[in-house]
Order: sequence, then C-alpha cells, then structure tokens
Amino acid sequence: MRQAGRIAAGARSIARQMIAPGVTTKAINKEVFNFIRKSGAQPTFLGYNGYPASACISVNDQVIHGIPGSRKLQEGDIVSVDVGATFKGFVGDCAGTFPCGQCSDEALRLIAVTRQSFFEGIRYARQGYRVSDISAGVQTYAESNGYSVVRDYVGHGVGAKMHEDPEVPNYVQHGRGSPRLLKGMTIAVEPMVNAGGWEVKVLPDGWTVLTADGSLSAHYENSILITDGEPEILTMSDDL
Ligand code: MF3
Ligand code: CO
Repeated sequence: MRQAGRIAAGARSIARQMIAPGVTTKAINKEVFNFIRKSGAQPTFLGYNGYPASACISVNDQVIHGIPGSRKLQEGDIVSVDVGATFKGFVGDCAGTFPCGQCSDEALRLIAVTRQSFFEGIRYARQGYRVSDISAGVQTYAESNGYSVVRDYVGHGVGAKMHEDPEVPNYVQHGRGSPRLLKGMTIAVEPMVNAGGWEVKVLPDGWTVLTADGSLSAHYENSILITDGEPEILTMSDDL
C-alpha cells in the first residue's frame, strides 16, 4: 500500500506540474499513464467499469470523473486531477485541485478550504473513532466556510481493490450507525466541495459529474492507514 501510494502521489504531482494555459487534458493523462507504467505499476482507472483513461481531469464546475480529451486549459481554470496506481496487487488513490495560471481569490479559497477539510476530517481518523467522525470533521469545516459537500459520491476503503468497504461520506447521515475505525484499515478520504449547492448531475458521456448550479467544485483525496495514533498518509508527497 505504501509503494502503490507513493506512485499514485508521484503521478498526481506530474499532473500538477503540467497544468498551464493551452495544455490539453489528454496530454496530462498521457504523462500520468507514462509515469505509472515507468514505475512498474498499472493505472487503476484505465478500463475500470469501462473508464477510458488513466486519470480523471475535471475542470471548474466539473466535480469528478472528467474524461481527458482535446480541451485546452485556460488561465483561471481550476483543475481537479484524480489518479490511481495498482502496484503488486494493491491500490493507491489520490486527487487534488490546482489552479491554472492566475485564478480568482474565490477559486483559490475553494481549493484551500477543500484541502483543509481533508485534514480536519482525518483528525478523527484513528482507532477508537467512527467513520462518521471523519465525515463530521470534513462537513463542519467546509460548511462553516460557506460551501457544501457533495452527497452522491463518497470516499471508500482501498486495498487490493480500489473500492472496498466502508463507505466514507463527507456528510453525516443522522440516525445511521457508522463503522468503528481499527488500526490496519486503509481508506480513501476524499472531500468534494462545491462553492454553491451540493447537488450534481452527470453528463451524457455517463462519467463527467458537474455541479447542478454551475458553481465551481474542488476535490482533495489521499489514501491513509489507520493506526492507534496519527494516520499515515500513503499518497503524500512534499508538494501536496
Ligand atoms: N478516484 C476515484 C474514486 O475514488 C475513482 C475514479 S473512477 C474511475 O472513486 F472509473 F475513473 F476509475
Ligand atoms: Co477514491
């Protein structure tokens, strides 16, 4: 899991460094593919439920699962990159949203709050807490900053498969039991935060998820290991 995580984080970093006006999302996807293969791993997303690429690249009001293509990034865009790497049978999954050139203060604030909401959530990612404690940490921070968290898509257990139990929602479902966290569990915590309402829609391509109201959206994800102390972030790199 550590090795897979390091490769996924490296791929996210390559993608981040390529983001610039005029660059196509398929050019970024290609370098993500090359990096993962060169590292001796497989791009987890490629072919997953028929998904056609190695990375998901979601721009502005696109929340997640944007399919790379001929779209050229523009100054002021915010660009979410989600990547997965499978190494020796284990998966690392991570994402981040990054500015293209100069972005508005509001866009930069959304990116920063989304990233911080992950860290607010994982304060409770340790043995003895419940999954819903992470959810509450993410939700409270994002909403107290005036944003909303996406409900239709959630974080997840990650291991030999990309998506395992338990689900890790970014909001609290009152009256619902929630699993306890035990050391040794590996989960992907991934706040998806909208500047407007939480509602989303899916494009006719069957993949691209966008905000229903057209507002900007940001995403931040790491795969983490639960311990009896601080969680270990498996997809961390210096710059993220
Ligand atoms: N990283 C995404 C997740 O956490 C998975 C992308 S879906 C795929 O659920 F189909 F593109 F693989
Ligand atoms: Co994920």
